[in-house]
Amino acid sequence: MAKILVTGGCGYIGSHTIVDLVENGHEVISADNLSRGFAVMNQRVADLLGLEIVNYQVDLSDRIQARQLFEDHNDIDGIIHFAAYKSVPESVEQPLMYYRNNIDSLVNVLELAQEFGVKNVVFSSSCSVYGNADELPVTESAPMKEAESPYAHTKQIGEGICARFTKAFPDFKIVLLRYFNPVGAHASAKIGEMNKRPENLVPIVTQTAIGLRDSMTVFGTDYDTKDGSCVRDYIHVSDIAHAHTLAMQQSLKNALPGNCEVYNLGTGEGVTVLELIAAFEKVSGLKLNYTIGGRRAGDVIKVYANNSKAEKELGWKPVYDIETMMQTAWAWEKALAETPAGMDS
Ligand code: WQD
Repeated sequence: MAKILVTGGCGYIGSHTIVDLVENGHEVISADNLSRGFAVMNQRVADLLGLEIVNYQVDLSDRIQARQLFEDHNDIDGIIHFAAYKSVPESVEQPLMYYRNNIDSLVNVLELAQEFGVKNVVFSSSCSVYGNADELPVTESAPMKEAESPYAHTKQIGEGICARFTKAFPDFKIVLLRYFNPVGAHASAKIGEMNKRPENLVPIVTQTAIGLRDSMTVFGTDYDTKDGSCVRDYIHVSDIAHAHTLAMQQSLKNALPGNCEVYNLGTGEGVTVLELIAAFEKVSGLKLNYTIGGRRAGDVIKVYANNSKAEKELGWKPVYDIETMMQTAWAWEKALAETPAGMDS
């Protein structure tokens, strides 16, 4: 059993990863300043596990605050670093806030890992580092192209920092995990994505279906794809979570080829926006109210993963299909609606 610090532990993927880590026998502490995470998520994880997970409400971009956590816990074996801002449009409006927060928190975490001898780190990255990839499916060796947003740029910079840090200090290991499109919610419907004003497709679909929105817009059906709408590699958040547990376990066992390996976390299947909506309508039995609109600036037309490296080296295999992703997303939206104070309880 290892003791793992999960930064961003009150967020969407962080909370699901805490559940997976504990279910796989690890001890977990969380650090989340709740600027984007929700305290209630920590409580819901505790209810789900029947175990309290201590969350330290610290701003990791503040070196003093972050250091106190490591002084209080000098027996951490590994760190899974999720804590970052991740809204693409917000990063376009507030680039410096993104560079300050996302880069400073990573550098602080690595400096403290070094000072306190925590030699196993998993870094939360994103398929957005690829930009508009030339070849599909995308492999980890695909070149990083011009980032579509400051958010994506902070992930490219973050990966570069991890690569150069581990080159300078070979006894430190960092696993870089590039998520494609995380969607869905835990099968229990006790935890899921909490975002009152989501920008991503799936929560917009479920909020439209439950009546929180009158309708939604499909951003373009005139692309060169099978039905004209954009193609993405949607991956269930619980599959993403389990990949983190496996990556940390392989790192702790020194079982990975190098000390800064990168892995794509996607299903390997491309799904169009209209196909996703059809899957949602099938599992919900509802007709979704949507209109066809113009293209959204910055959208990549098609992207989906070659995930064979993660399957081979992490022993990871995604298990949720698109209909189950939609079913769990819908169950979560309905659970939120039944909760008296919604996302605050
Ligand atoms: C998916 C598709 C939209 C909303 C983002 C981030 C990326 C990563 C994953 C963190 C696109 C279409 C959407 C709507 C629509 N996040 N859409 N109507 O943009 O692929 O990726 O999440 O790492 O960094 O950029 O996800 O869910 O916003 O869009 O038609 O109301 O759904 O045009 O084709 P995206 P998304």
